[in-house]
Amino acid sequence: MAPTISASRLASLLGPFATDGPAYRSLSEGIRLLVVDGRVADGSRLPSERELAAALGVSRTTTTRTYAELRASGLLRSRQGSGSVVHIPFAASSASTLIVTPDDADTIALTYSAPAGPAGLGRAFESAVTKLPGLLATTGYLPDGLPVLRELLAQRYTDRGLPTDPEQIVVTNGALGAVSLIAHTLMSPGQRVVVEGVSYPHAHESFISVGGRLSALPIGESPWDSVALSSTLRGSRHRAAYLIPDFHNPTAAIMSDDERGAWAHQLRRHDVVPVVDESLRDVNLDGVDLPPSYASYDSRAVLVDSASKSFWGGLRVGWVRAPHDLVMPLVQARMTLDLGTAAFEQLVLSELLVHGSQTAEAGRASLRAGRDHLLGELATALPEIEARRPAGGLSLWLTLPDRISSQLTAAASRHGLLLTPGPRFFASAGAAGERHLRLPYTQSEPTLSEAVRRLRLAYDDVRGGTSQAAAPPQSETLEMIA
Ligand SMILES: Cc1ncc(COP(=O)(O)O)c(C=O)c1O
Repeated sequence: MAPTISASRLASLLGPFATDGPAYRSLSEGIRLLVVDGRVADGSRLPSERELAAALGVSRTTTTRTYAELRASGLLRSRQGSGSVVHIPFAASSASTLIVTPDDADTIALTYSAPAGPAGLGRAFESAVTKLPGLLATTGYLPDGLPVLRELLAQRYTDRGLPTDPEQIVVTNGALGAVSLIAHTLMSPGQRVVVEGVSYPHAHESFISVGGRLSALPIGESPWDSVALSSTLRGSRHRAAYLIPDFHNPTAAIMSDDERGAWAHQLRRHDVVPVVDESLRDVNLDGVDLPPSYASYDSRAVLVDSASKSFWGGLRVGWVRAPHDLVMPLVQARMTLDLGTAAFEQLVLSELLVHGSQTAEAGRASLRAGRDHLLGELATALPEIEARRPAGGLSLWLTLPDRISSQLTAAASRHGLLLTPGPRFFASAGAAGERHLRLPYTQSEPTLSEAVRRLRLAYDDVRGGTSQAAAPPQSETLEMIA
């Protein structure tokens, strides 16, 4: 059931909003954005107009007009006695309509940090077809995964210095399917999970959906403050920790050897299971020396990985490398979830693991070119924005000169550029996320140039106080983030 959102919670989610132009318009735009990117769920009950006015320090007339505007756009339903409830007009229709897809060919969506299929991918499908007869002779139900793929994945870990046997591998529907399966297996409602304060939001939502409670670490220079971890663990009992130590999404930070050692020590001491998302580890664009896999520091670690970032998200093949005693509970949990991953796609990934090193390199080369191109365009067109060069991963994590991320996102959508506002990546509400914006470099160079041109226009709208003047975007959609 969707929650009731208190006035103070909504005020903190909204953060600072534009004071130029009519305040009710800034407010309704802010609430619309929160609904679109999933921070306010369909069916949520909003606070009363009076409570919201008091929490924001605006007049009651302003909040009345705000809600009236949201009602007129079909996003809010108000009924006597049941208050104002968020209503997404198409929420009951097919799932694919819940994804932000460009309304027209001219719209650029930088909400996904996922590459198109690299050169050579088609060949892997073709050679998998030649192996299909063997597969068709089976039922195709593979709750732990295709044996040949489990062997190849185990061998890959072993070759990289982490001895692994095939029984430790469970093939899943992407890395997100892996996180969700682990959350279902490990967690009971009410148990706590330690998470980085800024992270990949859908993974956090997987833990929340099974009743997990997040303890978000403070955000400092590094996402892995071990002093904060220690006091969090001392404060209350935690079941699991979810972390992305390699080319962390969205900051691209790499957890150092010392940090891995300190985390392993603390988590072991407090009997907390590390769930370690390594799905970006192979997107090592500059070939930097990464510390060993987190599992080398703590053999209890449950590793998550997938083919999405190094090959193609459309395969929807991921996997878990688990300690032996967790494998059967994982496979049992699948019986109520999905019964396994598509057999043919597992065959395709098996082909890629044997013959796909050039395909993976082609993918990295195009990401490298995209990254460098985007950095160059930003330096020329938007020098006000700080952009560091990540050594790997699929996106830039920008620092804005002010807390304008949501305003900039709203203004950009009016120029046909869809972005994910910084706060979406923050585990707890607060204004810190408004200083940041994630900008993926997974699209073609001309598209990235055009995206920067539109971002500049949006930036000028926000700075020049015209961000409320343009017409609102055409459609209401929910967001999927990759
Ligand atoms: C850290 C992280 N984990 C999981 C996912 C989801 O990956 P998949 O497509 O393999 O489910 C993403 C996608 O962006 C990600 O960045």
